[in-house]
Amino acid sequence: MHGVSGRKLPGIVVLASGNGSNFQRIVEASRQGILRAYVKMLIVDKDCYAVERAKRLGIPFKKLEKPWRENLKKLLGEIKPDFVVLAGFMRILPPDIVKEWANKIVNIHPSLLPSFPGKDAIKQTYEYGVKVTGITIHIVDEGVDTGPIVFQRAIEIDQSWDLETLESKIHEIEHENYPKVIDRLLHEKWRIEGRKFEWI
Ligand code: GAR
Repeated sequence: MHGVSGRKLPGIVVLASGNGSNFQRIVEASRQGILRAYVKMLIVDKDCYAVERAKRLGIPFKKLEKPWRENLKKLLGEIKPDFVVLAGFMRILPPDIVKEWANKIVNIHPSLLPSFPGKDAIKQTYEYGVKVTGITIHIVDEGVDTGPIVFQRAIEIDQSWDLETLESKIHEIEHENYPKVIDRLLHEKWRIEGRKFEWI
């Protein structure tokens, strides 16, 4: 696939487990030229709405069968994406995949890490009663939501918001920022020193 400039665009693979709204936004941004890459495939670990979106958008998709880790490793080896994008993929990648794809896997998490890692982060933040929350985009390492932080965006929680309002605000800033940050990761220079990510 080539961009308007005629240059070959990087190919990415998106991994999801659920609704797939970030996946859809990534595909749309790639078609609008906001994200200078093309989505080679959606990979899911279970039947989920993300697959319906892939069908509608005309993006190839694959559901991982057991043993999922081995199959994922094989699939990535065949597709050879330039970058792997986790968008609501609710499984922990095994160390061998993280090692093989070191600094080529990015994740988005709906809290200001290191606060509220793991599952149901939006609900966790809401129930804890924090006044400020946000999103984190990070390079994936072997831990759970522990990798070097590329980008964070904070929002103040208004006391009139219910959980659903907070969820939609978080998704809004995810959709706005994830494609742009992926674009920068693919097209700009950066390095990781210790656990610190920096643009060069
Ligand atoms: C997003 O809010 C993403 O940050 C979160 O799952 C949601 C997926 O939504 N990811 C995690 O919690 C990872 N620990 P989507 O399927 O509509 O893109």
